[in-house]
Amino acid sequence: MAYPQTRMRRLRASAGLRGLVRETELRAGQLVAPMFVSQDGPPHEPIATMPGVERLSISAAVAHAREAGALGIGAVMLFGVPAEKDEHGSGAWDEEGVVQLATRAIKQALPDGPLVITDVCLCEYSDHGHCGVLRDDGAVDNDATVELLARTAVSHARAGADLVAPSDMMDGRVGTIRAELDGEGFADTPILAYSAKFASAFYGPFRDAAGSTPAFGDRRSYQLDPANGREAVREALLDVQEGADMVMVKPALAYGDLIGAIKRATCLPLAAYNVSGEYAMVKAAAAAGYLDERAAVLEILTSLRRAGADTIITYHALDAARWLAAEAL
Ligand code: PBG
Repeated sequence: MAYPQTRMRRLRASAGLRGLVRETELRAGQLVAPMFVSQDGPPHEPIATMPGVERLSISAAVAHAREAGALGIGAVMLFGVPAEKDEHGSGAWDEEGVVQLATRAIKQALPDGPLVITDVCLCEYSDHGHCGVLRDDGAVDNDATVELLARTAVSHARAGADLVAPSDMMDGRVGTIRAELDGEGFADTPILAYSAKFASAFYGPFRDAAGSTPAFGDRRSYQLDPANGREAVREALLDVQEGADMVMVKPALAYGDLIGAIKRATCLPLAAYNVSGEYAMVKAAAAAGYLDERAAVLEILTSLRRAGADTIITYHALDAARWLAAEAL
């Protein structure tokens, strides 16, 4: 039946009807709040390119995680800003490294608090800013890097991380991390794999925040080409074979097609990473008065859920959780 019998507007006529047939729900428990934790910085250090986000000391990070937990946010995700960097990125697997210390501090202070997810990568710890160790010719050495990533993941698990999330895009890292975790007694620690991570312009503000801009070259020899969707599905399927428990699509907004495709292809829980540049665009437009921040953020996050994301990693997490709580009143 078509018009005039069928009128799509009937079910849009009131808030009650719209609520009754709403297809997609956004909950604070589905959100993950990323945090930058610095080893020797001040308690709170603003990040110029990410208004509202700060680099935090370990104790400030504990307080932030407490606040996230009180808002019902599902997890925090830790990125380390180490005091020193070196050629191999050895701060990444240091038992006294910034992420290890912060993880222990958060888990100890908030045993029932939000989950702690750790980012497993070398770029924040290496003096050259690439995501792995370099060969003499300057290329990233895949297999040598994978060993170091596995060591890093185990040190995070030992510190109490609830999930580990490798973001480097080396081949075979999920399988090696799984084997090392199992061998070290962490068979129950899940891996959230950054499966489809694209070489994106939208990571710019993050690299400011974490001080991880590559000293030379770019990340296109390991991160995905933004033009390639089938290759992204293949990456995700390989991660499933290697033992990933969750897969990720990153960035989120320009990759909605792949959120759907990878969800269908893998049947795994899927996280979408609403990255730093996507956050910065909204904040800049809102600050200029070009759009309504609250409405824009809730629309973006809902659209990611509709596209198929189970979990959303977003710098808007705390604001969004507050808005959702206010809506529920
Ligand atoms: C580390 C890493 C990056 C991001 C998450 N983990 C940066 C990069 O790959 O350059 C980006 C997150 C964001 O932009 O919010 N490899």
